[in-house]
Amino acid sequence: MAKIIDGKKISAQIKDELKERVEKENLDVTLAVILVGDDPASAVYVGNKKKACEYIGIKSLSYELPADTTEEKLLGLIDELNNRDDVDGILVQLPLPKHLDEDKVIKAISPIKDVDGFHPQSVGALSIGQPGFVSCTPAGIIQLLKRSDVEIDGKECVIIGRSNIVGKPMSLLMLRENATVTVCHSHTKNLEEVAKRADILIVAIGKPLFVDDKFVKEGAVVIDVGIHRKEDGKLCGDVDFEKVEKVASAITPVPGGVGPMTIAMLMNNCIAAKDLK
Ligand code: GUN
Repeated sequence: MAKIIDGKKISAQIKDELKERVEKENLDVTLAVILVGDDPASAVYVGNKKKACEYIGIKSLSYELPADTTEEKLLGLIDELNNRDDVDGILVQLPLPKHLDEDKVIKAISPIKDVDGFHPQSVGALSIGQPGFVSCTPAGIIQLLKRSDVEIDGKECVIIGRSNIVGKPMSLLMLRENATVTVCHSHTKNLEEVAKRADILIVAIGKPLFVDDKFVKEGAVVIDVGIHRKEDGKLCGDVDFEKVEKVASAITPVPGGVGPMTIAMLMNNCIAAKDLK
């Protein structure tokens, strides 16, 4: 039976460490959170981010804009926040309503306030090993592995999924940790065979229960980034947990695995924004 990698516990540890640092160093950190429209899932995520700020002692400014907000209005707000000395981080919750150009909005955020790590400058810095913000979910996965004593150096890492938010930055981070990295996607041939090479298998494909025990080498560590609601109302990941836990040596559950780490790393980035200034 696999060891369960407890993301809830590890994220709580990180949040406690950050809270202690804010108190000890008397840090005055402010995050501006922008939510456009009324997507219920986004409202829950934003609420959780604000709660985490409150717990740690980070101030949060909340901007809830109507779904028909114009691009000009949104870019105007970002510009105002970029220019405010008292604002350290800016987060625009995604996805945005269809009429707004996400790439343009992300690019408008000053790279020194880009706590999501989505700006092209942040991604470029990561790719050449320079300081900058790292996308929160991949950064959280590195913490999950390190704090669970999973050795990364020299290991075979296979990532399923090549999104800008998870798969691509994940591959860069694993490379930085000296893993041998393979990134799989919808055109990959013999996916099961390739996945089975992995000592560390990271699944961010966005399809419920896609990866079962046929994809997993005996003793591999399996990280599940997916989260889906099943017809019975329960949550599940991209990985078929019941089948895979029988062959893996360690596995993240859904919920309570990768999910809680994203917010912990966002909080980490907000505090790091002070150091980058
Ligand atoms: N939507 C889903 N995940 C994220 C995230 O990490 N950051 C932002 N801004 N939006 C998201």
